[in-house]
Amino acid sequence: MENIDWKNLPFGYKKTDYNVRCYYRDGKWGELEISSSEYVPIHIAATALHYGQEAFEGMKAFMGQDGKVRLFRWRDNAKRMHDSAEGIMMAEVPEDLFHQAIVKAVQMNKHFVPPYGTGASLYIRPLLFGSGAEIGVKPATEYLFMVFVMPVGPYFKEGFKPVDILVTPGFDRAAPLGTGHLKVGGNYAASLRALKHGHDKGYASALFLDAKEKKYIDEAGPANFFGIKNNTFITPKSDSILPSITNRALQAIAEKMGMKVEVRPVPYEEISSFEEAGACGTAAVITPIKKIVHDVTGETIEFSKDGEPGPISTKLYNMLVAIQNGDEEDPFAWVEVV
Ligand code: PLP
Ligand code: COI
Repeated sequence: MENIDWKNLPFGYKKTDYNVRCYYRDGKWGELEISSSEYVPIHIAATALHYGQEAFEGMKAFMGQDGKVRLFRWRDNAKRMHDSAEGIMMAEVPEDLFHQAIVKAVQMNKHFVPPYGTGASLYIRPLLFGSGAEIGVKPATEYLFMVFVMPVGPYFKEGFKPVDILVTPGFDRAAPLGTGHLKVGGNYAASLRALKHGHDKGYASALFLDAKEKKYIDEAGPANFFGIKNNTFITPKSDSILPSITNRALQAIAEKMGMKVEVRPVPYEEISSFEEAGACGTAAVITPIKKIVHDVTGETIEFSKDGEPGPISTKLYNMLVAIQNGDEEDPFAWVEVV
């Protein structure tokens, strides 16, 4: 195997040795197959290609100091993929098939799990799509579920360092009664222009407002948003954002640390009263926010004057990462050793 510079890994695609696949045909799931190819043969009329019948998940495995590899909250990812499948009328992946597939993919690529202490982890990407041919707009009758993995570093290249975010009222990623709460590819295609717009202006991400009233915070590109004030962890409740598993984990940790937790609509107007703000997700972990700038009015709200993460974000981050790595006992039964 090539030498990998574990400490400087980007968040990007990297070939590993094996991936696993399972086909749904004739109303049932087949056997799990192992492949060393990075390609899948696909029918020209597959519904995934034409009508966006596709969903994915993102999760991580971590190497502990004890040499054990830990999965974090995989059941929640299995459940969310089930909800995504249901939402766009795909065959649902049973929980035990999901589990078998991710465990197999991790075990077959164990030497790609970054060593303890490097800050990197093994990113696991389960994927489900309509592989059956249709040309009328209707669900496929055949599906492919696959899992591949790769070692990754932080999503935002700054790592645990505050970034600047652009509020982009000129773009929506999801409609109020649409698919924003599902992890389906179409949402990500719909977010690309806003993200590019933000990047071009020098921001790490776009921050979406709710599509209906443009009054409330939705989410921060591929991550949820949270703010801290008065010892309270505040995060948006919205039907058009992805229900982040990391966010729920942070809420539980915050409560355990004696903080209050509020999940409710968060008006854009309110965020200037936050002492700290951040983006959270599997890939983003916690990415603290330095400042938020409004794309139209130019209004600037600053959360970190010295460019350092706030004290509460730091505590939350440290506890989350310590549980994931196995440094701290896991009082929530979130991790599974594989
Ligand atoms: N929001 C979006 C749009 C995402 O793509 C992600 C990433 O999965 C998140 C939020 C964070 O979710 P999670 O913490 O489950 O990874
Ligand atoms: C994740 O956090 O796992 C994501 O899926 C975010 C992004 C890479 C799509």
